[in-house]
Amino acid sequence: MIALLPTTLRAADGDSPAEKLLLASRPLVIGHRGYCQIAPENSLPSFKLAKTAGADLVELDYYHTQDGQLIVIHDDTLDRTTDAVAKWGGKQIRVDSKTLAELKTLDAGKWFDPQFTGTTLPTLNEALDLIQDGNVTLIERKAGDAAACVKLLSERKLINRVVVHAFDWQYLADFHRLEPKQVLSALGPLWARDGRKVTDTEKVLSPEWIELALKSGVRAMGWNNQVTKESVAYAHRKKLKVWIYTINDPAEADRLLDLGVDGIITNNTALMWRTLALRRAKASK
Ligand code: G3P
Ligand code: CA
Repeated sequence: MIALLPTTLRAADGDSPAEKLLLASRPLVIGHRGYCQIAPENSLPSFKLAKTAGADLVELDYYHTQDGQLIVIHDDTLDRTTDAVAKWGGKQIRVDSKTLAELKTLDAGKWFDPQFTGTTLPTLNEALDLIQDGNVTLIERKAGDAAACVKLLSERKLINRVVVHAFDWQYLADFHRLEPKQVLSALGPLWARDGRKVTDTEKVLSPEWIELALKSGVRAMGWNNQVTKESVAYAHRKKLKVWIYTINDPAEADRLLDLGVDGIITNNTALMWRTLALRRAKASK
């Protein structure tokens, strides 16, 4: 007789949406800042379009507000993607200098196109409400400690139902210590290592980067297009996936997929799906 396990145990790792994505037998299509080629980046409309276009993961960036809330935006200032400067004056207005209530008065859509006027900056909670209803969020931490994100995800029972990535590998190590189950991805290349600036040659994915990232407990690497067939194969031998950002050109996606990469992070989800479909058609001829 097979005893029924409690839900928490049955849902444990092997069954989790994040783990399932790591087991996929095809490259993943990851919507960068949602579907930011046709909607304002990191907005609910952008996330909705990425979902509609079938992104495997919908990527976003978060910061902390002055009053400690997690808010979704890419830059550490409000100038580029909101009307903060027009509204409040000044320049280089930092996200963490404003409360959530203040940030919610900003328009984060009309800079992109007038049809998106009235779009506000989403909280991480609002973004998760939308994306996790059928998709998986790829959360990028831009600032703040791991404990705040662990707390939010734990309270929402979203540990390992999302993937978390960051350029700060100490943050990832902290996250891994607090929640070892959570699938994490190390973004690179880093600007500096061992107290000195990384040279252009050193920015290529290498066994050294991979070994260093593994110390943070990650299961994937998010790299730019500076990868080789050998470095991707090395990552695979170490049971790491390799996802490449930010690829919007089908020919470049083709080149990278030929190297064996496992995911394409893109501003144009539909175009990358088309690229994968054409590759499959060509392979089956
Ligand atoms: O997905 C990786 C990519 O998002 C990292 O760069 O600047 O777009 O957050 P950025
Ligand atoms: Ca990002």
